[in-house]
Amino acid sequence: CPQNLQMEDTSSLKLAACRAKGGAPGFKVAVLGAAGGIGQPLALLMKMNPLVSVLHLYDVVNSPGVTADISHMDTGAVVRGFLGQQQLESALTGMDLVIIPAGVPRKPGMTRDDLFNINAGIVRTLCEGIAKCCPQAIVNVISNPVNSTVPIAAEVFKKAGTFDPKRLLGVTTLDVVRANTFMAEVLGIDPREVAVPVVGGHAGVTILPLLSQVKPPCSFSAEEIKYLTDRIQNGGTEVVEAKAGAGSATLSMAYAAAKFADACMRGLRGDAGLVECSFVASQVTELPFFASKVRLGRSGAEEIYPLGPLNEFERFGLEKAKKELAASIEKGVAFIRKQ
Ligand code: NAI
Repeated sequence: CPQNLQMEDTSSLKLAACRAKGGAPGFKVAVLGAAGGIGQPLALLMKMNPLVSVLHLYDVVNSPGVTADISHMDTGAVVRGFLGQQQLESALTGMDLVIIPAGVPRKPGMTRDDLFNINAGIVRTLCEGIAKCCPQAIVNVISNPVNSTVPIAAEVFKKAGTFDPKRLLGVTTLDVVRANTFMAEVLGIDPREVAVPVVGGHAGVTILPLLSQVKPPCSFSAEEIKYLTDRIQNGGTEVVEAKAGAGSATLSMAYAAAKFADACMRGLRGDAGLVECSFVASQVTELPFFASKVRLGRSGAEEIYPLGPLNEFERFGLEKAKKELAASIEKGVAFIRKQ
């Protein structure tokens, strides 16, 4: 009832004001698609993050329920819910970080590109809102196909005159998380001790793990390299098939997105030495977008690192990845330019 809503709003305002007085550091974060398979656990993890002072949960369905549920957690962030397109602008106004897991996921037999027709339009609408209401925000794009949705977001921002390549980041963290896990399994060590750079993009052969550059340094047999590369490239499909029609990776994805968002916020706060892989506007190859290691700082992806020395297997993989990536990027760009 409206009275209740008013009361809740007043108390959340009081809470926010009280926190502001205490000078607690905190960022305003919006999750768009917050009622979805990724959105819900991601909202939970963001509510647990002490760097978040305000959490806006937006969706076209079910966001009031998710918001009521999450808002009962006794952690710092003030939670507000927003439902439907008419509340998109309120959801976005004043945000420092916007995370986008909105859109349909894969079913068995589908590629990420099969999602293009639905998700391209969703990402366009959401990015138009961002350009209008929080053009300075860091944007984390999760919606697939990331290889096309990030170029779509860039084109929307360019049209609006708000494009800052440092602030637009495609989330490829799940590929790194999987690579670390699978490699640790092969070596029989703790995945937290492992770092595998994964470059290229976020679909099939465009996912390019650089096993010659792993930390701790180690050498693999040709068989192990083939097994690991295949499993990392097809990790998403492994989950889609196991879920047998009930969607794609949501829990590991929420974990990966929360990890990446945390690194973005620590960068905004001014922490040093934050290096993550992300799909960004890039000059590392001849393609306009590419995933590689980036250094996160106060203005987003402040430095993009070159790929470093590749072995023959990786050079071959890179050529294959670039071919597919070029087409996906072009498809995203054309989707906005043809309108
Ligand atoms: P889901 O279908 O469970 O949830 C999507 C949510 O988006 C739903 O709650 C839906 O109502 C909402 N939505 C739809 N249209 C919207 C709009 N116009 N505005 C706001 N919200 C809207 O899907 P799930 O599993 O959460 O996946 C979301 C996306 O993330 C998919 O595109 C999926 O392919 C992608 N994904 C990306 C990964 C990555 O590594 N970048 C990994 C796994 C999934």
